[in-house]
Amino acid sequence: MVENDDSTGYVPDFDISRPTIARVYDAILGGKDNFAADREGAAAYMKYVPNAKDVALDNRAGLRKGVEYMARHGIDQFLDIGAGLPTMENTHQIAQAINPDAKVVYVDNDPIVLSHGRALLSTNKTTTVVTADLRDPQGILAHEEIKENLDFSRPIGLMVVGLHMHFHDDEQPDEWVRVLLDACPSGSYLLITDFVDTGEPLQKAIEQAGLESLGNGWIRTPERIKEHFLGLPLVEPGLDFIPRWFPGEPEREVPAAEDIEPWHKIMMGGLGHKA
Ligand SMILES: C[S@@+](CC[C@H](N)C(=O)[O-])C[C@H]1O[C@@H](n2cnc3c(N)ncnc32)[C@H](O)[C@@H]1O
Repeated sequence: MVENDDSTGYVPDFDISRPTIARVYDAILGGKDNFAADREGAAAYMKYVPNAKDVALDNRAGLRKGVEYMARHGIDQFLDIGAGLPTMENTHQIAQAINPDAKVVYVDNDPIVLSHGRALLSTNKTTTVVTADLRDPQGILAHEEIKENLDFSRPIGLMVVGLHMHFHDDEQPDEWVRVLLDACPSGSYLLITDFVDTGEPLQKAIEQAGLESLGNGWIRTPERIKEHFLGLPLVEPGLDFIPRWFPGEPEREVPAAEDIEPWHKIMMGGLGHKA
């Protein structure tokens, strides 16, 4: 019997003795849907990267900028893989602020996301949460609720935000995403953020933190991250550190890379467009 130490009174029916990615990320962001083991995992991140929360906030900012761009460019259905626990400004809230009819399907393999997401979305008729696994992309495409909610004959905003770092290159995560992208018609977008390796010590530190707390969380060179887009052209300005990344605004004045804080150089974002 496990003790419920979640302040919401939520009674878990799954293992809380080991940290999960979704709950550690929630703890880093200051959320309440996490348990002691997750908070220990978050503490490991803080130990190596004291500004870990700012890194997570950068990631959320990347998600927001990408979703806003897609919604403003006519995307009205989003498949958000590895969606995470509900937090501030979730995909459906960002998209529906621009298009109230936008449909969003959240996918996560951690069952806690389903239980908390369903509660959040009980009154939202155009948004749903399903438990499914990126490692089984055919299972995602065959999922009844996904088929009911998304029309794969029209462009889709495919989102794999803050997820690739949790898979080693040996697992070939790009091949899972390829199956999903192949199912999306022309006009679709692929939004990705990932941990980057440009030689900064703090980038190596976040990898160390991830390996210590979760057993994953690898960094990759920008060249390797570009390969995640499977040959799609990237919306200008291409791939960049999140504080410098404003899709569709290549002329925008942004801080020089050497002027931004080291923790702002941990995440890069990019948005591919399927012609
Ligand atoms: C770091 S969080 C990112 C959450 C959100 N996308 C964001 O960027 O803020 C990664 C999420 O991916 C989920 N995840 C990990 N492995 C997964 C898999 N194989 N299939 C689906 N989701 C997965 C985790 O449960 C977690 O919620």
